[in-house]
Amino acid sequence: MTPELLEAGARQREAHSAAMPPKATRSGDREAAFGRVLASGQPDFAHGVALYLEDITVSFDGFKALNQLSLTVDVGELRCIIGPNGAGKTTMMDVITGKTRPQQGSASFGANIDLLRLRENEIAQIGIGRKFQKPTVFEPLSVFENLELALKADRRARASLRAKLNSADLDRMAEVLQLTHLRRLADLQAGLLSHGQKQWLEIGMLLMQEPKLLLLDEPVAGMTDEETERTAELFLTLEGKHSLVVVEHDMSFVATLTQGFKKVTVLHEGSVLAEGRLDQVQANDKVVEVYLGR
Ligand SMILES: Nc1ncnc2c1ncn2[C@@H]1O[C@H](COP(=O)(O)OP(=O)(O)OP(=O)(O)O)[C@@H](O)[C@H]1O
Ligand SMILES: [Mg+2]
Repeated sequence: MTPELLEAGARQREAHSAAMPPKATRSGDREAAFGRVLASGQPDFAHGVALYLEDITVSFDGFKALNQLSLTVDVGELRCIIGPNGAGKTTMMDVITGKTRPQQGSASFGANIDLLRLRENEIAQIGIGRKFQKPTVFEPLSVFENLELALKADRRARASLRAKLNSADLDRMAEVLQLTHLRRLADLQAGLLSHGQKQWLEIGMLLMQEPKLLLLDEPVAGMTDEETERTAELFLTLEGKHSLVVVEHDMSFVATLTQGFKKVTVLHEGSVLAEGRLDQVQANDKVVEVYLGR
């Protein structure tokens, strides 16, 4: 793609985001939308927006970990979030996944699903998967069994009657094993994997549940350079099929993920300090002062 095309695409995306109607504010509208969600379980992505946070404030004993944070992530977008320690990045993920309730603001998945009304397990079921920094795989089980478990846990959550793996499931597992570079290690006990491979397995387990939005908190922390590169490749493969929100301090990893025109969001003191292409935010004096210049 030429730079002109990339810029044009970016402008189109901006226009699209700007055209996104504000979230329904009358409770009747919201109630009605919520009823539809429970009936269909499907987020409405017709406006092209996967995640919509507006004016979110989270206070811990008067300290504002998030301070009127507003942010939107488009369907299929890969958005990197950077910012200094304590900026509120993890707290933002806690709000999206229902772990922390904000004192103020609104959060929706697609145009219709009010995340602030759902419990953590319900949020996972509607297609928001979260990867914490520490890998949490079942070490005594094999790689394959871990993926199988993820699939079955999802089934139980959805009260599906289909308990046995069918050929579509096996195809999906083969695809996930391939994506996560674990195909040759499928029968290996997960406890014997390297740190990076455990991280990939956990991402694979999330992928078995076919999330529409994936939240990844410092996914390459502790990885070797080669593992970091492969993780970037994996995320770039997932982009488009899923929306991804990636929090990372590793700037070369962020640079790889955001090649071309891709928006990076800089958080500071619980709010968005800057947003734009990585080279633009890196040249922003405020960003250099609070983060990059340290
Ligand atoms: N449960 C809590 N109780 C009190 N304060 C909290 C709680 N959770 C987070 N905080 C505070 O909120 C602020 C934001 O924390 P958060 O973990 O979201 O930052 P972060 O951007 O993820 O930082 P890092 O890059 O170090 O992971 C910090 O000052 C943190 O100490
Ligand atoms: Mg954090």
